[in-house]
Amino acid sequence: MKRSVIDISDLSTEEIRELIRVAEDIIGHPADYEEACRHRKLATLFFEPSTRTRLSFEAAMYELGGNVISVAGGNTSSAAKGESIADTAKTVSCYADIIAMRHPKEGAAYVAAQNASIPVINAGDGGHCHPTQTLADLLTIWREKGTFENLTIGLCGDLKFGRTVHSLIQAMSRYAGVRFVLISPEELKLPSYVKKDVLAAKGIAYTQTTDLLGAMPDLDILYMTRVQRERFFNEEDYLRLKDSYILTPQKLANAKKDLSVMHPLPRVNEISVAVDDDPRAAYFKQVLYGKYMRMALILKLLKEAGRL
Ligand code: NCD
Repeated sequence: MKRSVIDISDLSTEEIRELIRVAEDIIGHPADYEEACRHRKLATLFFEPSTRTRLSFEAAMYELGGNVISVAGGNTSSAAKGESIADTAKTVSCYADIIAMRHPKEGAAYVAAQNASIPVINAGDGGHCHPTQTLADLLTIWREKGTFENLTIGLCGDLKFGRTVHSLIQAMSRYAGVRFVLISPEELKLPSYVKKDVLAAKGIAYTQTTDLLGAMPDLDILYMTRVQRERFFNEEDYLRLKDSYILTPQKLANAKKDLSVMHPLPRVNEISVAVDDDPRAAYFKQVLYGKYMRMALILKLLKEAGRL
């Protein structure tokens, strides 16, 4: 049966556990997977800038022995001629076995999935969600902490437009004893729909603050984010808010010794490069883990669709 992943809630807790198991098996035995997707094709359709997500999907497919066809940049495809997402999805279904799609509009991947005859993976839809970044985040948390339970997670920066934050909250809200500390400027607070539909609906404990230093000592994980310039209505607001939080080694002085500092990347100014050498910095491991989780997800969806 063809199945798409648009939102992290499209995957059950058991399925996420199994994806982590497969990703760890790939890490341990990469040679066993070298031919797993032979003769299968991944189409990457990216209508917004990307380095990590597109290249990690493509590297994932190559490491599974498969092939990649690609549209990078809306200006080079028929989208620039006015083609609808639905028609693009039907067209690409004739060429590929699975699609990874990034688009500036919220809901774009959903529309693609409704119209494609092959699985569609949402690689980021506007300010909405980004489930495969969350899979990367989950493997990072799992390997850094050894558990998903009883963690205090600080989310810092642009919580309004940061789609990775929305998906991570959704995913981590499934585990017992998780608490969130939402650290942002007033204007960039978490959208009320996430508070209502996820945090309140599941009875998850959270606090909101503008004070990163004050929150620091309690945190097990600090998830820094970039202020999402491309989603602002005016440049002045962006310039005023962009450097609200800059993590430096000094600011980590009161943090736990086993804190994990995460960031979906790209970073602009939010984490000083001097933090990179701190053993608590986990953001480049997070990049690598993203590739393994995407390998596991591609395998799962192709198998379910009867294409492997
Ligand atoms: C994120 C995204 O695209 O939402 N990047 C990524 O995929 N790793 C975060 C961001 O752009 O700030």
